[in-house]
Amino acid sequence: MAETDDDAAIASDLHPGAEVLDSLDMPMVEAMETQRAVRRLKTDPVPDEILLRLLELSLKAPTSSNTQDWSYVVVKDRDQKRRLARLYRVLYRVFNPITEKLAARDETALRNIRPGQWQAEHFEEIPVFVVPCYRRGLMHRSVGWPQISVSSFYGSVYPAVQNLLLGCRAVGLGASIQTLPIWLVPVAKRVLGLPFNVNPVCIIPIGWAEGRYGPTRRRPIGEVVHVDRYGNRPFLAEDPTGSRP
Ligand SMILES: Cc1cc2nc3c(=O)[nH]c(=O)nc-3n(C[C@H](O)[C@H](O)[C@H](O)COP(=O)(O)O)c2cc1C
Repeated sequence: MAETDDDAAIASDLHPGAEVLDSLDMPMVEAMETQRAVRRLKTDPVPDEILLRLLELSLKAPTSSNTQDWSYVVVKDRDQKRRLARLYRVLYRVFNPITEKLAARDETALRNIRPGQWQAEHFEEIPVFVVPCYRRGLMHRSVGWPQISVSSFYGSVYPAVQNLLLGCRAVGLGASIQTLPIWLVPVAKRVLGLPFNVNPVCIIPIGWAEGRYGPTRRRPIGEVVHVDRYGNRPFLAEDPTGSRP
């Protein structure tokens, strides 16, 4: 940590990420309560030092049988980003009219879909994409019911993804989980050069936040918690944090 403002200025000149990484000390509750999908992003680059530290922290997450068969493809190359943007917009043009129709005449809904539309139109301008991938092993094919193998496959990636989102939140980077841009998985795999048994799980566009963070609004806890058997919700009347959407 820098002792004085001058020290801090020198430190941040030498290591552009050093000061920013100090904000990882943000209280956990604040990070969890305000982390949300931030889709409007600035074009300023994200220094490798910051990104690598966030990726490193994200990998403190668990994986099924501790296989750690994950990989991150970090996309910064302009042509690669353009290829992914082209792929995304094929899908976006199919789904956006449906989303707009559903939101029609609802001002709040229309306002909520604007950042997503902005992002689709500016996809290649986003400084960096992280594509978390996982190697599909035997465990994900033949053991247990199909749902459980699927669960252990995706469940070996999303804890790390959430760690990454929280880390981004703390340092002031905007990020979100996206699956639509890689729905055409074989094409996404070809663009990214993934081997046949390595699969992309989602894509996380990252940049300095232009949009706002939370507080996020979620269903109240009493509605979600069932005790002993589904349907028994003794906390139904409770909304302790006033988080009802
Ligand atoms: C598995 C998963 C897939 C998602 N895919 C997309 C996507 O394709 N496009 C998108 O704009 N947001 C996507 N999201 C983000 C959610 O829409 C977003 O987190 C949710 O609406 C809550 O928004 P908030 O976090 O800003 O409150 C995805 C989230 C998850 C967990």
